[in-house]
Amino acid sequence: MEQVRAVVSAELDAVNAVIIEQLRSDVDMVENVGQYIVDAGGKRLRPMLALLCSAALGPVSQAQVQFAAVIEFIHTATLLHDDVVDVSELRRGRPTANSAFGNAPSVLVGDFLYTRAFQLMVALNNHDLLKMMADTTNTIAEGEVLQLVRAGDPSTSEAQYYDVINRKTAVLFAAACEGAAMLSGAPAATGTALAECGRNIGNAFQLVDDLLDYEGDPELTGKNVGDDLAEGKPTLPLIHVMAHGTQAQAALVRDAIGAKERSRLPDIMQAVRDCGSLDYTRAAAEQCRDTAIAALATLPKSAARDALEHLAHLAVERRH
Ligand code: IPE
Ligand code: IPE
Ligand code: MG
Ligand code: MG
Repeated sequence: MEQVRAVVSAELDAVNAVIIEQLRSDVDMVENVGQYIVDAGGKRLRPMLALLCSAALGPVSQAQVQFAAVIEFIHTATLLHDDVVDVSELRRGRPTANSAFGNAPSVLVGDFLYTRAFQLMVALNNHDLLKMMADTTNTIAEGEVLQLVRAGDPSTSEAQYYDVINRKTAVLFAAACEGAAMLSGAPAATGTALAECGRNIGNAFQLVDDLLDYEGDPELTGKNVGDDLAEGKPTLPLIHVMAHGTQAQAALVRDAIGAKERSRLPDIMQAVRDCGSLDYTRAAAEQCRDTAIAALATLPKSAARDALEHLAHLAVERRH
């Protein structure tokens, strides 16, 4: 990751400066909660993606730096909301904002970040970009609602699972890439290819997130294992056990999803390993990675393009 970051490190520093500056509010609670989650770190993967796409198309402009900060704001807003909805207690190695401050502050400060992101985007004065981002954030909201609807439903199909992750996660990765292209004035076809790259890195990233929810090390991920099971989320590892496990394994998983509780977590961790469901999920992520890399073929060769390819690999190989 350090190698990838090095390609746009000055620009990433500039993005972090924008993030800190734009968290300002004369309402103390906004600053406190906002800083709490921002100070905890985060991989800054989405802004990195936006900057690398920008750099692959020419010198990175101030507008592209602003845009990368907007993407991280939207991501951070979704995390604040997501941890309330998922009743999660650990994020970025510390108690979630909902654990530390409560649900209401998390939801409301999430709204602040969302709306601040749109203020920043309006300042970029690019109507096509604004439209693309309005569509993107609307789709993310749909994705989270769709996930809520699917929670506790063991009959969820692979196609329905992919529909959820495409909307809740992949579209923001796609937008990070496409928006960078829009701001560089690249032809629409370049934007479409980069969006395709981002979408597939995003899906790979979420597939791996869903497998790390069963085999991850909380010391590295900064999140608890078993959160998905506790919410009854029918993620790909579980869908695979229900389709290919023994009758007993399938019933174990079906019941746990329906009950939305984590007491059978150790048995289920055993089942996802024994059925090859984690390998199956990783293989699906690798396929997305390869599609993402193929989409980069039209870009001229550059250090930024190589770094994008590297990032696609990291989305699959990551342990955190
Ligand atoms: C977490 O994203 C949410 C998912 C889409 C899985 P990240 O893993 O990129 O979160 P941070 O920003 O690095 O904490
Ligand atoms: C990510 O899904 C959802 C969004 C941030 C929109 P998860 O619920 O799997 O993310 P984590 O595991 O809490 O980071
Ligand atoms: Mg969550
Ligand atoms: Mg997760």
